[in-house]
Amino acid sequence: MFNDADEQTLASILAWRDLPAKHQPDWPDKAELERLMAYLRTLPPLVFAGEADKLKQEMAAAGRGQAFVLMGGDCAESFADSSADRIRARIRTILQMAAVLTYAASVPVVKIGRMAGQFAKPRSNPFETRDGVTLPSYMGDAVNGHEFTREARTPDPHRLIEAYQRSVSTLNLVRAFTTGGFADLAKVHEWNKGFMANPAYAKYEAMAGEIDRAMRFMKAAGVSTDSFRTVDLYSSHEALLLPYEEAMTRIDSRTGTPYNTSAHFLWIGERTRDIGGAHVEMLSHVRNPIGVKLGPRTTVADAIALIDKLNPEGEPGRLTFITRMGADKIRDCLPPLVEGVARDGRPVTWVTDPMHGNTITAKNGLKTRRLSDIMREIQGFFAVHQELGTHPGGIHVELTGDDVTEVLGGSEEVVEDTLEERYETLVDPRLNHQQSLEMAFLVAEQLRDIDI
Ligand code: PEP
Ligand code: CO
Repeated sequence: MFNDADEQTLASILAWRDLPAKHQPDWPDKAELERLMAYLRTLPPLVFAGEADKLKQEMAAAGRGQAFVLMGGDCAESFADSSADRIRARIRTILQMAAVLTYAASVPVVKIGRMAGQFAKPRSNPFETRDGVTLPSYMGDAVNGHEFTREARTPDPHRLIEAYQRSVSTLNLVRAFTTGGFADLAKVHEWNKGFMANPAYAKYEAMAGEIDRAMRFMKAAGVSTDSFRTVDLYSSHEALLLPYEEAMTRIDSRTGTPYNTSAHFLWIGERTRDIGGAHVEMLSHVRNPIGVKLGPRTTVADAIALIDKLNPEGEPGRLTFITRMGADKIRDCLPPLVEGVARDGRPVTWVTDPMHGNTITAKNGLKTRRLSDIMREIQGFFAVHQELGTHPGGIHVELTGDDVTEVLGGSEEVVEDTLEERYETLVDPRLNHQQSLEMAFLVAEQLRDIDI
């Protein structure tokens, strides 16, 4: 399955260590970190090379307009919320959205959770000050605790082992749910009918009715395949904490090449995508499908340099650009990038993250986003690709399966005054269950009218 590395491969896996690495915690005891990472190296992989390869093929199809990617989950997973109920609610939300999108796009929907490993966060400010006390910022449960005390906020490398264990149990549940009958399309459709029973969503009745007729037609025609009963739900997270990602990088015995076995898909964030930096170096040496977040200041030269480094041979499905421009900027910032990359010719899968360019601060100081801005960025993304004749490959969103009140808007409207009611996120605001489904219907209405 996985072998020891030969010397050259080992050198490639360790090459990041000589380069500047941004957004790394200041671990107080480096020897303890080393010892724990040596232990982590002995623990089994979370995913297999063959699964990552399969996802790469599916990402390639999305890049050609033959599939559509739905990536979603928490901004930051927490240990407290990795209970069976919370995980099930998130899986259910993703499956419900995927059913609606599959009907509208008429192509397979590639389902990827920001899940089973999304435990680390880059922070704009490494320190937080409250009432004159300054402590390290919360960097995700894999690093420190959210509570504002010196003890909780001090980075603790034992948390990396707990992050691994939480990822194992989350992924185990994902695998059980998606193959054990929970993902049956007929059942997912019943849940969507439950959602539609709420009069707040009457405006989606036409679309919901079409899906219902399609389901009844398939049933009447006796269409019954395993693909209706089981699904692939892949895992992904931001590859931020390099010692952890290094320890999870293993050599595939079939090909002798390294794979990051902590998730099927890894991405590099907007803050750590420097071409000469450690994060880009590390992911350049693994064979997984990978992504890079691109903000509004990205130049064509930046994008081409990333392709040169991360996908020099132009392997389809290897590299996804996840753009996060902001609703007001996407129509100006995205076209030159897409055109420049198209001129280069090496394939890239384009996905939109309509969340991170649209974060605002509400009057009461809480970080939030408007569903209307999120939808405007998605509309802009479709419009730009439509105009240029390129393919909108999918969407990347922060969501939860629970009834939180973190994002403004939606038919069961969350307003500034009600934000505080159930504001539970540890970092960025997430769409709640209803808002996620509403977004799926809104995206579906657009997808139905275009040829992806
Ligand atoms: C994120 O996806 O939570 C994130 C930090 O995004 P970005 O790197 O695009 O800011
Ligand atoms: Co976020």
